[in-house]
Amino acid sequence: MKILVVGGGGREHALVWKFLQDDPSCEIIVAPGNAGIAQIARCVPVAATDIPALLQLAQREGVDMTMVGPEAPLAAGIVDVFRAAGLPIFGPTSQAARIETSKRFAKELMLANGIPTAGATFHQSLESAKAAVRTAGAPIVVKASGLAGGKGVVVAQSTEEAENAVESMLGDRIFDQAGSEILIEEFMSGEELSIFVITDGEHFVMLPAAQDHKRLLDRDGGPNTGGMGAYSPVSLATSALLETIAETIIRPTLRAMKKAGSPFTGLLYAGIMLTPTGPRVVEFNCRFGDPETETILPLLKSRLLPYVQAVAEGASLEGFAGVTCKHGHAATIVLAAGGYPARPRLGDPVQFSAPPPGMYVFHSGTALAADSGSFVTAGGRVLALTCVAPSLPQAVVRVREFAERIQFEGKQFRRDIAHRELERIARTT
Ligand code: AMP
Ligand code: GLY
Repeated sequence: MKILVVGGGGREHALVWKFLQDDPSCEIIVAPGNAGIAQIARCVPVAATDIPALLQLAQREGVDMTMVGPEAPLAAGIVDVFRAAGLPIFGPTSQAARIETSKRFAKELMLANGIPTAGATFHQSLESAKAAVRTAGAPIVVKASGLAGGKGVVVAQSTEEAENAVESMLGDRIFDQAGSEILIEEFMSGEELSIFVITDGEHFVMLPAAQDHKRLLDRDGGPNTGGMGAYSPVSLATSALLETIAETIIRPTLRAMKKAGSPFTGLLYAGIMLTPTGPRVVEFNCRFGDPETETILPLLKSRLLPYVQAVAEGASLEGFAGVTCKHGHAATIVLAAGGYPARPRLGDPVQFSAPPPGMYVFHSGTALAADSGSFVTAGGRVLALTCVAPSLPQAVVRVREFAERIQFEGKQFRRDIAHRELERIARTT
Protein backbone atom coordinates (compact mmCIF):
# COMPACT_ATOMS: atom_id res chain seq x y z
CA MET A 1 0.00 0.00 0.00
CA LYS A 2 1.14 3.51 -0.84
CA ILE A 3 0.10 6.29 1.55
CA LEU A 4 0.42 10.05 1.32
CA VAL A 5 0.61 11.82 4.70
CA VAL A 6 0.00 15.57 4.63
CA GLY A 7 1.77 17.69 7.26
CA GLY A 8 5.17 17.98 8.84
CA GLY A 9 5.08 17.90 12.62
CA GLY A 10 5.38 15.50 15.55
CA ARG A 11 1.84 14.29 14.99
CA GLU A 12 2.64 13.30 11.41
CA HIS A 13 5.90 11.66 12.50
CA ALA A 14 3.94 9.54 15.00
CA LEU A 15 1.30 8.64 12.39
CA VAL A 16 3.95 7.60 9.85
CA TRP A 17 5.78 5.58 12.52
CA LYS A 18 2.56 3.81 13.52
CA PHE A 19 1.55 3.03 9.93
CA LEU A 20 4.98 1.47 9.39
CA GLN A 21 4.62 -0.57 12.58
CA ASP A 22 1.21 -1.74 11.37
CA ASP A 23 2.41 -2.63 7.90
CA PRO A 24 6.17 -2.52 7.38
CA SER A 25 5.68 -3.11 3.68
CA CYS A 26 3.72 0.09 3.08
CA GLU A 27 5.35 2.93 1.20
CA ILE A 28 4.81 6.37 2.70
CA ILE A 29 5.24 9.78 1.09
CA VAL A 30 5.01 12.84 3.33
CA ALA A 31 4.29 16.40 2.18
CA PRO A 32 6.23 18.27 3.36
CA GLY A 33 7.44 16.17 6.33
CA ASN A 34 10.54 17.23 8.24
CA ALA A 35 14.11 16.07 8.79
CA GLY A 36 13.08 13.46 11.38
CA ILE A 37 10.27 12.02 9.30
CA ALA A 38 12.70 11.80 6.38
CA GLN A 39 14.56 9.11 8.32
CA ILE A 40 11.63 6.73 7.92
CA ALA A 41 9.67 7.96 4.88
CA ARG A 42 10.09 9.88 1.63
CA CYS A 43 9.45 13.60 2.13
CA VAL A 44 8.54 15.84 -0.79
CA PRO A 45 8.67 19.63 -0.66
CA VAL A 46 4.96 20.30 -1.21
CA ALA A 47 3.25 22.55 1.32
CA ALA A 48 0.43 21.02 3.40
CA THR A 49 -1.91 23.74 2.15
CA ASP A 50 -1.08 23.54 -1.57
CA ILE A 51 -4.07 21.42 -2.49
CA PRO A 52 -3.64 21.42 -6.30
CA ALA A 53 -0.01 20.30 -5.90
CA LEU A 54 -1.01 17.63 -3.35
CA LEU A 55 -3.64 16.30 -5.73
CA GLN A 56 -1.09 16.15 -8.54
CA LEU A 57 1.36 14.38 -6.25
CA ALA A 58 -1.22 11.80 -5.15
CA GLN A 59 -2.24 11.13 -8.74
CA ARG A 60 1.31 11.01 -10.09
CA GLU A 61 2.40 8.61 -7.35
CA GLY A 62 -0.78 6.55 -7.56
CA VAL A 63 -1.29 6.57 -3.77
CA ASP A 64 -3.94 4.27 -2.32
CA MET A 65 -4.84 6.58 0.54
CA THR A 66 -4.13 10.06 1.89
CA MET A 67 -3.99 10.92 5.59
CA VAL A 68 -4.30 14.59 6.55
CA GLY A 69 -2.62 15.77 9.76
CA PRO A 70 -3.29 19.49 10.25
CA GLU A 71 -6.53 21.46 10.14
CA ALA A 72 -5.54 24.05 7.53
CA PRO A 73 -5.79 21.77 4.45
CA LEU A 74 -9.03 20.30 5.83
CA ALA A 75 -10.47 23.79 6.23
CA ALA A 76 -9.34 24.58 2.69
CA GLY A 77 -11.22 21.58 1.29
CA ILE A 78 -8.56 18.96 0.57
CA VAL A 79 -11.04 16.16 1.32
CA ASP A 80 -13.65 17.61 -1.05
CA VAL A 81 -11.06 17.91 -3.85
CA PHE A 82 -9.60 14.41 -3.38
CA ARG A 83 -13.03 12.77 -3.11
CA ALA A 84 -14.19 14.54 -6.26
CA ALA A 85 -11.13 13.04 -7.98
CA GLY A 86 -12.02 9.58 -6.63
CA LEU A 87 -9.05 9.37 -4.23
CA PRO A 88 -9.53 7.82 -0.76
CA ILE A 89 -8.68 10.34 1.94
CA PHE A 90 -9.00 10.44 5.74
CA GLY A 91 -10.52 13.61 7.17
CA PRO A 92 -13.66 15.74 7.15
CA THR A 93 -14.91 17.90 4.28
CA SER A 94 -14.41 21.64 4.67
CA GLN A 95 -18.07 21.97 5.69
CA ALA A 96 -17.62 19.36 8.40
CA ALA A 97 -14.28 20.87 9.47
CA ARG A 98 -16.26 23.94 10.57
CA ILE A 99 -16.69 22.08 13.86
CA GLU A 100 -13.14 23.32 14.51
CA THR A 101 -12.75 26.26 12.15
CA SER A 102 -15.89 28.13 13.17
CA LYS A 103 -16.50 28.40 16.88
CA ARG A 104 -19.92 29.85 16.05
CA PHE A 105 -20.86 26.78 14.00
CA ALA A 106 -19.66 24.43 16.74
CA LYS A 107 -21.35 26.34 19.54
CA GLU A 108 -24.67 26.63 17.72
CA LEU A 109 -24.57 22.93 16.84
CA MET A 110 -24.00 22.02 20.49
CA LEU A 111 -26.58 24.43 21.92
CA ALA A 112 -29.24 23.39 19.38
CA ASN A 113 -28.71 19.69 20.09
CA GLY A 114 -28.38 19.74 23.86
CA ILE A 115 -24.70 18.78 23.82
CA PRO A 116 -23.20 19.97 27.13
CA THR A 117 -20.89 22.98 26.70
CA ALA A 118 -20.34 26.48 28.09
CA GLY A 119 -23.04 29.04 27.30
CA ALA A 120 -21.88 31.78 24.93
CA THR A 121 -22.97 34.90 23.09
CA PHE A 122 -21.60 36.13 19.74
CA HIS A 123 -20.42 39.66 19.08
CA GLN A 124 -19.17 41.70 16.18
CA SER A 125 -19.25 45.06 17.90
CA LEU A 126 -17.01 46.26 20.71
CA GLU A 127 -19.93 47.75 22.61
CA SER A 128 -22.07 44.61 22.72
CA ALA A 129 -19.07 42.43 23.62
CA LYS A 130 -18.04 44.70 26.48
CA ALA A 131 -21.61 44.92 27.71
CA ALA A 132 -21.77 41.11 27.77
CA VAL A 133 -18.53 40.97 29.77
CA ARG A 134 -19.85 43.48 32.30
CA THR A 135 -23.17 41.66 32.66
CA ALA A 136 -21.59 38.24 33.18
CA GLY A 137 -18.62 39.32 35.33
CA ALA A 138 -15.34 37.41 35.78
CA PRO A 139 -13.95 34.83 35.38
CA ILE A 140 -15.05 34.85 31.77
CA VAL A 141 -13.70 33.54 28.47
CA VAL A 142 -13.16 35.58 25.29
CA LYS A 143 -12.65 33.65 22.02
CA ALA A 144 -12.07 34.57 18.40
CA SER A 145 -14.64 32.73 16.28
CA GLY A 146 -12.20 31.72 13.51
CA LEU A 147 -8.95 29.76 13.41
CA ALA A 148 -6.25 31.55 15.41
CA GLY A 149 -3.60 28.88 15.73
CA GLY A 150 -4.69 27.92 19.26
CA LYS A 151 -4.04 31.46 20.51
CA GLY A 152 -7.50 32.95 20.10
CA VAL A 153 -8.71 32.18 23.64
CA VAL A 154 -8.33 34.36 26.71
CA VAL A 155 -9.51 32.99 30.05
CA ALA A 156 -9.90 36.32 31.86
CA GLN A 157 -9.75 36.49 35.63
CA SER A 158 -11.12 40.06 35.72
CA THR A 159 -13.58 42.04 33.61
CA GLU A 160 -10.73 44.44 32.82
CA GLU A 161 -8.63 41.61 31.34
CA ALA A 162 -11.68 40.43 29.37
CA GLU A 163 -12.34 43.92 28.02
CA ASN A 164 -8.70 44.21 26.95
CA ALA A 165 -9.03 40.91 25.08
CA VAL A 166 -12.19 42.19 23.39
CA GLU A 167 -10.30 45.38 22.39
CA SER A 168 -7.39 43.50 20.86
CA MET A 169 -9.53 40.96 18.98
CA LEU A 170 -12.40 43.16 17.74
CA GLY A 171 -10.70 46.57 17.91
CA ASP A 172 -7.07 45.94 16.93
CA ARG A 173 -7.89 42.77 14.95
CA ILE A 174 -4.83 40.92 16.23
CA PHE A 175 -6.27 37.75 14.69
CA ASP A 176 -7.35 39.53 11.52
CA GLN A 177 -10.58 38.06 10.07
CA ALA A 178 -10.55 35.16 12.53
CA GLY A 179 -11.42 37.76 15.17
CA SER A 180 -14.07 39.70 13.25
CA GLU A 181 -16.57 37.90 15.45
CA ILE A 182 -15.92 36.84 19.03
CA LEU A 183 -17.61 34.68 21.63
CA ILE A 184 -18.07 35.70 25.23
CA GLU A 185 -18.26 32.39 26.99
CA GLU A 186 -19.13 31.10 30.42
CA PHE A 187 -16.09 29.95 32.43
CA MET A 188 -16.00 26.23 33.21
CA SER A 189 -13.82 24.83 35.98
CA GLY A 190 -12.37 21.35 36.13
CA GLU A 191 -9.74 19.12 34.59
CA GLU A 192 -9.48 18.73 30.85
CA LEU A 193 -9.40 15.56 28.77
CA SER A 194 -8.59 15.06 25.10
CA ILE A 195 -10.90 12.47 23.58
CA PHE A 196 -10.17 11.18 20.06
CA VAL A 197 -12.63 9.14 18.05
CA ILE A 198 -12.15 7.74 14.57
CA THR A 199 -15.49 7.89 12.81
CA ASP A 200 -17.18 7.04 9.53
CA GLY A 201 -19.82 9.69 10.31
CA GLU A 202 -21.98 7.37 12.40
CA HIS A 203 -19.98 4.58 14.04
CA PHE A 204 -16.84 5.39 15.95
CA VAL A 205 -13.95 3.92 17.92
CA MET A 206 -12.46 5.80 20.82
CA LEU A 207 -8.71 6.00 21.41
CA PRO A 208 -7.32 6.10 24.98
CA ALA A 209 -7.95 9.42 26.71
CA ALA A 210 -5.06 11.83 27.21
CA GLN A 211 -4.43 15.01 29.12
CA ASP A 212 -2.55 17.82 27.38
CA HIS A 213 -0.51 20.66 28.94
CA LYS A 214 -1.20 23.84 27.00
CA ARG A 215 0.72 26.42 29.03
CA LEU A 216 4.41 27.03 28.42
CA LEU A 217 5.63 26.84 32.01
CA ASP A 218 5.44 24.50 34.97
CA ARG A 219 2.32 24.67 37.15
CA ASP A 220 0.36 25.90 34.12
CA GLY A 221 2.06 29.29 34.01
CA GLY A 222 3.01 31.45 31.03
CA PRO A 223 1.28 31.76 27.67
CA ASN A 224 -0.86 29.16 25.90
CA THR A 225 1.00 27.03 23.37
CA GLY A 226 0.12 24.32 20.89
CA GLY A 227 0.82 21.82 23.70
CA MET A 228 3.91 21.15 25.82
CA GLY A 229 3.30 17.56 26.82
CA ALA A 230 0.69 14.92 27.50
CA TYR A 231 0.12 11.62 29.19
CA SER A 232 -2.20 8.66 28.80
CA PRO A 233 -4.15 6.86 30.14
CA VAL A 234 -5.84 9.26 32.58
CA SER A 235 -7.33 7.63 35.68
CA LEU A 236 -10.25 10.11 35.72
CA ALA A 237 -11.31 8.68 32.38
CA THR A 238 -12.99 5.58 33.78
CA SER A 239 -14.95 3.39 31.41
CA ALA A 240 -18.16 4.81 32.94
CA LEU A 241 -17.03 8.37 32.22
CA LEU A 242 -15.98 7.47 28.67
CA GLU A 243 -19.37 5.86 28.14
CA THR A 244 -21.05 9.09 29.31
CA ILE A 245 -18.88 11.12 26.94
CA ALA A 246 -19.69 8.74 24.09
CA GLU A 247 -23.44 8.89 24.72
CA THR A 248 -23.93 12.55 25.71
CA ILE A 249 -21.30 14.17 23.49
CA ILE A 250 -19.86 12.06 20.66
CA ARG A 251 -22.95 10.26 19.41
CA PRO A 252 -25.24 13.34 19.51
CA THR A 253 -22.53 15.41 17.78
CA LEU A 254 -22.15 12.92 14.94
CA ARG A 255 -25.94 12.73 14.61
CA ALA A 256 -26.20 16.53 14.55
CA MET A 257 -23.46 16.84 11.92
CA LYS A 258 -25.27 14.35 9.72
CA LYS A 259 -28.57 16.18 10.21
CA ALA A 260 -26.86 19.48 9.33
CA GLY A 261 -25.89 17.93 5.98
CA SER A 262 -22.19 17.67 6.77
CA PRO A 263 -21.47 14.24 8.24
CA PHE A 264 -18.13 14.20 10.01
CA THR A 265 -15.66 11.55 8.88
CA GLY A 266 -12.09 11.23 10.11
CA LEU A 267 -10.80 12.02 13.57
CA LEU A 268 -13.04 13.98 15.89
CA TYR A 269 -11.15 15.46 18.82
CA ALA A 270 -13.35 16.56 21.71
CA GLY A 271 -11.66 18.81 24.26
CA ILE A 272 -13.65 18.03 27.40
CA MET A 273 -13.89 19.85 30.73
CA LEU A 274 -14.75 17.58 33.63
CA THR A 275 -16.95 20.06 35.48
CA PRO A 276 -18.72 19.42 38.80
CA THR A 277 -21.91 18.88 36.77
CA GLY A 278 -20.35 16.39 34.35
CA PRO A 279 -18.29 16.40 31.15
CA ARG A 280 -18.82 19.43 28.88
CA VAL A 281 -17.21 20.36 25.58
CA VAL A 282 -14.54 23.07 25.57
CA GLU A 283 -13.96 22.78 21.84
CA PHE A 284 -13.88 20.34 18.97
CA ASN A 285 -10.98 19.80 16.60
CA CYS A 286 -11.32 18.10 13.23
CA ARG A 287 -7.97 16.23 13.34
CA PHE A 288 -5.57 14.37 15.59
CA GLY A 289 -4.17 16.52 18.43
CA ASP A 290 -0.53 17.34 18.86
CA PRO A 291 1.19 16.23 21.14
CA GLU A 292 -1.52 13.77 22.29
CA THR A 293 -1.02 11.68 19.14
CA GLU A 294 2.66 11.19 20.04
CA THR A 295 1.48 9.95 23.47
CA ILE A 296 -1.38 7.71 22.41
CA LEU A 297 -0.02 5.91 19.34
CA PRO A 298 2.95 4.23 21.11
CA LEU A 299 0.43 2.88 23.65
CA LEU A 300 -1.77 1.18 21.08
CA LYS A 301 -1.53 -2.56 20.70
CA SER A 302 -4.11 -2.51 17.90
CA ARG A 303 -3.24 -1.51 14.40
CA LEU A 304 -4.44 1.97 13.47
CA LEU A 305 -4.27 1.49 9.73
CA PRO A 306 -7.41 -0.67 9.23
CA TYR A 307 -9.65 1.96 10.84
CA VAL A 308 -8.04 4.81 8.94
CA GLN A 309 -8.19 2.96 5.67
CA ALA A 310 -11.88 2.03 6.10
CA VAL A 311 -12.84 5.64 6.81
CA ALA A 312 -10.70 6.97 3.96
CA GLU A 313 -12.39 4.55 1.55
CA GLY A 314 -15.85 5.58 2.72
CA ALA A 315 -16.52 2.17 4.29
CA SER A 316 -18.44 1.62 7.52
CA LEU A 317 -16.78 1.04 10.90
CA GLU A 318 -19.75 -1.05 12.00
CA GLY A 319 -18.47 -4.33 13.35
CA PHE A 320 -14.93 -3.05 13.95
CA ALA A 321 -13.69 -3.96 17.42
CA GLY A 322 -12.49 -1.20 19.73
CA VAL A 323 -8.76 -0.57 20.03
CA THR A 324 -6.66 -2.38 22.60
CA CYS A 325 -3.70 -0.90 24.46
CA LYS A 326 -0.42 -2.15 25.83
CA HIS A 327 -0.22 -2.52 29.58
CA GLY A 328 1.63 0.64 30.32
CA HIS A 329 1.62 4.38 30.66
CA ALA A 330 2.89 6.97 28.23
CA ALA A 331 4.27 10.43 28.99
CA THR A 332 5.35 12.94 26.35
CA ILE A 333 7.55 16.00 26.77
CA VAL A 334 7.76 18.60 24.02
CA LEU A 335 11.13 20.31 23.63
CA ALA A 336 10.40 23.81 22.36
CA ALA A 337 12.74 26.34 20.79
CA GLY A 338 13.97 29.38 22.69
CA GLY A 339 11.47 32.24 22.31
CA TYR A 340 8.51 29.88 21.71
CA PRO A 341 5.60 30.59 21.39
CA ALA A 342 6.00 34.28 20.49
CA ARG A 343 9.22 34.29 18.42
CA PRO A 344 10.92 30.88 18.25
CA ARG A 345 14.63 30.83 17.43
CA LEU A 346 15.39 28.74 14.36
CA GLY A 347 18.57 27.11 13.13
CA ASP A 348 20.09 26.06 16.46
CA PRO A 349 22.03 22.77 16.21
CA VAL A 350 20.42 19.87 18.09
CA GLN A 351 22.63 17.37 19.92
CA PHE A 352 20.85 14.05 20.23
CA SER A 353 21.31 11.30 22.73
CA ALA A 354 20.47 7.67 21.86
CA PRO A 355 16.95 6.81 23.07
CA PRO A 356 16.81 4.01 25.67
CA PRO A 357 14.27 1.17 25.20
CA GLY A 358 10.68 2.37 25.56
CA MET A 359 11.58 5.90 24.38
CA TYR A 360 10.25 7.36 21.14
CA VAL A 361 11.60 10.50 19.48
CA PHE A 362 9.18 12.31 17.19
CA HIS A 363 10.37 15.36 15.29
CA SER A 364 8.06 18.36 15.36
CA GLY A 365 10.25 21.05 13.84
CA THR A 366 13.71 20.05 12.67
CA ALA A 367 15.69 20.52 9.47
CA LEU A 368 19.10 19.46 8.23
CA ALA A 369 21.65 22.29 8.10
CA ALA A 370 22.79 22.84 4.51
CA ASP A 371 26.46 23.09 5.49
CA SER A 372 26.93 20.44 8.18
CA GLY A 373 24.06 18.09 7.34
CA SER A 374 23.21 17.92 11.06
CA PHE A 375 19.85 18.54 12.72
CA VAL A 376 18.86 22.10 13.57
CA THR A 377 15.71 23.58 15.10
CA ALA A 378 13.16 24.59 12.48
CA GLY A 379 9.94 25.28 14.37
CA GLY A 380 8.47 26.42 17.68
CA ARG A 381 8.05 22.88 18.88
CA VAL A 382 11.20 20.94 18.01
CA LEU A 383 10.84 17.39 19.35
CA ALA A 384 8.20 15.34 21.13
CA LEU A 385 9.71 12.65 23.37
CA THR A 386 7.49 9.82 24.58
CA CYS A 387 8.31 7.16 27.14
CA VAL A 388 6.13 4.10 27.62
CA ALA A 389 6.77 2.40 30.97
CA PRO A 390 4.95 0.05 33.35
CA SER A 391 3.91 2.94 35.60
CA LEU A 392 3.28 6.64 35.01
CA PRO A 393 5.87 7.80 37.57
CA GLN A 394 8.50 5.70 35.74
CA ALA A 395 7.45 7.07 32.34
CA VAL A 396 7.62 10.64 33.63
CA VAL A 397 11.03 10.27 35.31
CA ARG A 398 12.56 8.55 32.28
CA VAL A 399 11.24 11.01 29.73
CA ARG A 400 12.39 13.94 31.86
CA GLU A 401 15.89 12.48 32.17
CA PHE A 402 16.00 11.96 28.43
CA ALA A 403 14.71 15.51 27.80
CA GLU A 404 17.63 16.87 29.88
CA ARG A 405 20.13 14.96 27.71
CA ILE A 406 19.09 16.42 24.34
CA GLN A 407 20.78 19.77 23.87
CA PHE A 408 20.07 22.88 21.84
CA GLU A 409 20.40 26.58 22.51
CA GLY A 410 17.34 28.03 24.25
CA LYS A 411 15.66 24.62 24.85
CA GLN A 412 12.46 24.95 26.87
CA PHE A 413 10.39 22.16 28.34
CA ARG A 414 8.03 21.44 31.20
CA ARG A 415 9.31 19.33 34.02
CA ASP A 416 5.87 18.73 35.54
CA ILE A 417 4.13 16.69 32.84
CA ALA A 418 1.27 14.65 34.34
CA HIS A 419 1.50 16.52 37.66
CA ARG A 420 -2.24 16.20 38.29
CA GLU A 421 -2.15 12.44 37.82
CA LEU A 422 1.03 12.10 39.89
CA GLU A 423 -0.67 14.02 42.71
CA ARG A 424 -3.66 11.69 42.47
CA ILE A 425 -1.33 8.69 42.68
CA ALA A 426 0.48 10.23 45.68
CA ARG A 427 -2.86 10.82 47.45
CA THR A 428 -4.02 7.23 47.03
CA THR A 429 -0.82 5.41 47.98
P1 AMP B 1 -9.65 26.19 23.04
O1 AMP B 1 -8.72 26.76 22.00
O2 AMP B 1 -11.08 26.52 22.83
O3 AMP B 1 -9.37 24.75 23.35
O4 AMP B 1 -9.20 26.89 24.40
C1 AMP B 1 -7.89 26.81 24.87
C2 AMP B 1 -7.91 26.56 26.35
O5 AMP B 1 -8.60 27.61 27.02
C3 AMP B 1 -8.65 25.29 26.74
O6 AMP B 1 -7.87 24.16 26.65
C4 AMP B 1 -9.05 25.61 28.15
O7 AMP B 1 -7.96 25.39 29.04
C5 AMP B 1 -9.32 27.09 28.12
N1 AMP B 1 -10.77 27.34 27.95
C6 AMP B 1 -11.42 27.49 26.77
N2 AMP B 1 -12.74 27.69 26.98
C7 AMP B 1 -12.92 27.67 28.32
C8 AMP B 1 -14.07 27.83 29.17
N3 AMP B 1 -15.30 28.09 28.68
N4 AMP B 1 -13.87 27.76 30.51
C9 AMP B 1 -12.63 27.54 31.01
N5 AMP B 1 -11.53 27.38 30.27
C10 AMP B 1 -11.65 27.45 28.93
N1 GLY C 1 -2.97 19.56 21.74
C1 GLY C 1 -3.90 20.52 21.31
C2 GLY C 1 -4.23 20.46 19.89
O1 GLY C 1 -3.78 19.63 19.14
O2 GLY C 1 -5.02 21.31 19.46
